[in-house]
Amino acid sequence: MSRPRVLLATCAAMPDSDKDDVGVLPALAEVGVDAAFAPWDDPSADFAGADLVVLRATWDYTLRRKEFLAWCDAVPRLANRADLVRWNTDKSYLADLASDGLAVVPTELVPPGAVPDWPDVDVVVKPAVGAGSHGARRFAPDQREEAASHLADLHTDGGVALVQPYQPAVDAEGETALVYLGGVYSHSFHKGPMLGNRVDPSGLFLAERLGPTTPTAEQRVLAEDTLDAVCARFGMRRNELVYARVDVLRGADGRQLLLELELTEPSLGFRQTGPEAPARFASAVRSALAAR
Ligand SMILES: Nc1ncnc2c1ncn2[C@@H]1O[C@H](COP(=O)(O)OP(=O)(O)O)[C@@H](O)[C@H]1O
Ligand SMILES: [Mg+2]
Repeated sequence: MSRPRVLLATCAAMPDSDKDDVGVLPALAEVGVDAAFAPWDDPSADFAGADLVVLRATWDYTLRRKEFLAWCDAVPRLANRADLVRWNTDKSYLADLASDGLAVVPTELVPPGAVPDWPDVDVVVKPAVGAGSHGARRFAPDQREEAASHLADLHTDGGVALVQPYQPAVDAEGETALVYLGGVYSHSFHKGPMLGNRVDPSGLFLAERLGPTTPTAEQRVLAEDTLDAVCARFGMRRNELVYARVDVLRGADGRQLLLELELTEPSLGFRQTGPEAPARFASAVRSALAAR
């Protein structure tokens, strides 16, 4: 049997992916998969000829989403699926998941020209298409003008913005990222608050503080329910998700709430867990290859 060829899509600024992914190539090689990283917009990479293309550090899509989605549509064997990626690269999906009955951070989607119903607490204003905390800023109730001005900035390119009440428990507890590989729970990691101390009002260059953690049963149920809701929406089975990351935090009412579901380019926190996680990733890739 010839060795399957897998391309792990990255971006020009980070062609070999995030350092977190270093264990992935050897883990794939160990199970007989020839894998390599390649920026998604590299014309010399044979994405059409690969047995599978797995999205990894394709972080510049936030600036070129239309082009990126057209590329996703054109890749014959893409994980995760292009229709999922289209839905998941716009945080408006949070409204869909809320309507599916999941506990989601209260979210108002604000299209250009619309005025939000500002909650009377600290708020987060962030772009619907965004990653790495870029453009996410926190404002106190007495900073409405600044908040409105940031919202207007986010609207200049025609994009929708999100307004959410700031969830203060994140200051003490951070958020928990639960990672699923091939639809099965793999591991979790903890991320400190990104907007807690307002050291960098630009929202750029915020260093992430990560560490291992064990999720609570409530967090695990929420994450499992989230994956089930997505699969029901898209008429797919859980094992079609090569990876998924579910980010949750404790809301003002004490319940765990979904902050983000990442199906496109998440850091999977391999460095925050044991050496078996890249092997589980490799097995999820083998499973996706076998299903084709
Ligand atoms: N409603 C919120 N309450 C508290 N913290 C928030 C909220 N929204 C965002 N944050 C903080 O900002 C960070 C980035 O926001 P997030 O929604 O995860 O977008 P992305 O990671 O895609 O940039 C989060 O990790 C969290 O620390
Ligand atoms: Mg996030």
